[in-house]
Amino acid sequence: MNNIIIITGASSGIGREFAYQLDKSMKKIDEFWLVARRSERLDDLESKLSHKCRKFAMDITVKDEVSFLADQVKDSGSCVRMLINCAGFGILGKFKDQDYKDIQGMIRTNCESLTEMTYRMIPYMKKGSRIIQLASSAAFVPQINFSVYAATKSYVLSFSRSLREELRAQKIYVTAVCPGPVDTEFFEIAEKKGTNMSVKDYFMTTPMVVVDKALRCSRYRIPVCVPTFGMLFFEGVCKKFPHSWILFFSRFMK
Ligand SMILES: NC(=O)c1ccc[n+]([C@@H]2O[C@H](COP(=O)([O-])OP(=O)(O)OC[C@H]3O[C@@H](n4cnc5c(N)ncnc54)[C@H](OP(=O)(O)O)[C@@H]3O)[C@@H](O)[C@H]2O)c1
Repeated sequence: MNNIIIITGASSGIGREFAYQLDKSMKKIDEFWLVARRSERLDDLESKLSHKCRKFAMDITVKDEVSFLADQVKDSGSCVRMLINCAGFGILGKFKDQDYKDIQGMIRTNCESLTEMTYRMIPYMKKGSRIIQLASSAAFVPQINFSVYAATKSYVLSFSRSLREELRAQKIYVTAVCPGPVDTEFFEIAEKKGTNMSVKDYFMTTPMVVVDKALRCSRYRIPVCVPTFGMLFFEGVCKKFPHSWILFFSRFMK
């Protein structure tokens, strides 16, 4: 049996960091399957890993790409020991001023493709397999100027928590990861239309910290991983106070 780990969004940031950290710890894995659009980035990552890699330079929002990947898993007789859904993006700005293409892209990438990837890979998992879904602390409360992105991440968090319960009997474990701002290319893309989120600088962490915590949570079968104290505090505030209050105060934050 060919044991594999699939990582989407492996060309950058958090996805790439998962590949680095798992490369050191998962010696019994036969292959890493790396998914993202930028093939040269995947080539570069492969050259830095000790595991055998298969690279899939694909846009996961394009019709039939995810089912093509599932066919490859089936044809190779592989068992998916870990699925890590990192591919995703957000664009800051007022909803009414955004390009509809960007809005659709966020929903397709962050929700639809993540859901399809999960659905199509579960049949190739077995007892002890793990799924890690990149949600965000933006999932905890609606966010002004990040409304669609925050809503997509609420979807990921909600979906992951119920899926975890559904898969419990099969001993397949799902962890949703909810970082605050992480120092990756994410904000270059998020701020490209001119709306900035200055408050992020106070809470910024590194992909190394996020991935280290996420892997620990997944190993200990913790359903929701909030990697930093700042975001644990934020989660507490979002649970304790009415969201209308938080939205009111966030009107004054830049
Ligand atoms: N950075 C943060 O502050 C932060 C905070 C909370 C949650 N997150 C979440 O963490 C995840 C990873 O983000 P990151 O910080 O690592 O950002 P990043 O450095 O921009 O990485 C995003 C990854 O997603 C891939 N991707 C995007 N659209 C894709 C598509 N249509 N098809 C295939 N791959 C696609 C990109 O690869 P290509 O461009 O090569 O396709 C890239 O590898 C995202 O889901 C993000 O929402 C990030």
